[in-house]
Amino acid sequence: MTVQVYSDYGALSHAAARLIAAQANQLVAQRGSFSLALAGGHTPARLYELLASAPYRDQIPWDSVHIFWGDERCVPADDPASNQGMARRLLLDRVPLPLEQIYPIPGELPARQAADQYEKLLKDFFTRRATGFDLILLGLGADGHTASLFPRTAALHETQRWVTAVHLNDSQPDRVSLTAPFINLAAQVVFIVSGAGKAQALHMVLEGLYQPEVYPAQLIRPIQPPIWLVDQAAGQKLTGQSIIEQSD
Ligand code: 6PG
Repeated sequence: MTVQVYSDYGALSHAAARLIAAQANQLVAQRGSFSLALAGGHTPARLYELLASAPYRDQIPWDSVHIFWGDERCVPADDPASNQGMARRLLLDRVPLPLEQIYPIPGELPARQAADQYEKLLKDFFTRRATGFDLILLGLGADGHTASLFPRTAALHETQRWVTAVHLNDSQPDRVSLTAPFINLAAQVVFIVSGAGKAQALHMVLEGLYQPEVYPAQLIRPIQPPIWLVDQAAGQKLTGQSIIEQSD
């Protein structure tokens, strides 16, 4: 796999914006559309702002882009915890993307119902086009989770469904997540990881023993290996085992 290490969060975010713009143009030229699943959490915030600003905004063929999410918290879209809300504020409300090409996970519904509804939407969409997303953007938690695939949860063992409901505990909202088998059908998975707090998890995911119960991001093994975009703080514990390209 390829690990590209950037000097800081800003450089990392620009690299991710360049990659997404390039992939969007390539896929639209090849197939007439580009399906992109967004990550939640804080790391992609600067990336989303960049995609909504020059030069990237003007480089992307938004009228052929279809936007999805890799996971969602079961909260209303205007809740600060909503992945949909963040992406709309920072990106989708600021680019000329047809509204009917934005496919949010219905976080206002109970998790199981939202998962069923989103899975049906995905099956309708992809049955007509391809087997999986053109690009899925994923983050990495300090505990090694990705999307809402958390350590030691039932979601890690889902082999049939594309989308699953996730109950963590009674003090957090339930979640909805793409499953590892469906993420692995994507043509390209891109991880974006920033900050010293992720260094241990990144090292263990990429260079530790294969133990996906503990480090669920290890379940993400698409045919085309993921591209890891990290900053130096997150990559500080990586050794020579990972192919590291110092980039900026
Ligand atoms: C979510 C995300 C989740 C996120 C990681 C990293 O909904 O929380 O999809 O998988 O990518 O938790 O989050 P940060 O970017 O905030 O560190």
